[in-house]
Amino acid sequence: MTNLQIAVDGPAGSGKSTVAKKIAEQLRITYLDTGAMYRAVTYKALEAEIDLNDQAALKAVVDQMTICFNQNSIIVDGLDVSEAIRTQRVTLNVSLVSADAYVRSEMVKRQQAIANGQSVIMDGRDIGTTVLPNASYKFFLVADPRERARRRLAELSAKGFTGDLDEIVADIIRRDTFDSNREVSPLKKAEDAIEIDTTDLTIEEVIEVILKAVRS
Ligand code: DC
Repeated sequence: MTNLQIAVDGPAGSGKSTVAKKIAEQLRITYLDTGAMYRAVTYKALEAEIDLNDQAALKAVVDQMTICFNQNSIIVDGLDVSEAIRTQRVTLNVSLVSADAYVRSEMVKRQQAIANGQSVIMDGRDIGTTVLPNASYKFFLVADPRERARRRLAELSAKGFTGDLDEIVADIIRRDTFDSNREVSPLKKAEDAIEIDTTDLTIEEVIEVILKAVRS
């Protein structure tokens, strides 16, 4: 049986991760949160106190770090950093780090290695265009920025963090612009991706649309 590869791309807060995680459970396939990998590099770079614009220093950070996943936890150099990569500090700096060409090429290689030989659903920004250009199914999720900010705020409060809605809206718009305009693998809908506007849809409804397409 050939492996199933599902790409789910879209901007921050479009619902990708929640949806992709649940679909992975239902289809019993591997889920890979590629944003977590860029966050992990950012976390390590901040921890090392390097200048995030220093390409050589970023390269050294990437070359020395191991990233693996255990269930839904991300393990970096043997430590579970699942919580640490979600802080505001990492969120504010991750666009810059993920725009670095070397960081991207290394992460894409690692993501492709994980996808090799097994069925996966990956969420990110460039899965359908770059990481898995031959994916069996590609989806591109979009949603109104204010709705996306509300979701981020709810996620943060569920984890005991606080946040200001207007600041999150501004950060989301800033990241969208940055991610869509960077030179290497910008956030872009693959030509053959199915676009789903999740603004007025529940998670269950989005999952239904995707599963219907995959099962048809
Ligand atoms: O999905 P997220 O918010 O956790 O992603 C964090 C950042 O990583 C986001 O600003 C864009 C970047 N990213 C990327 O450039 N390519 C991916 N495949 C996934 C995330």
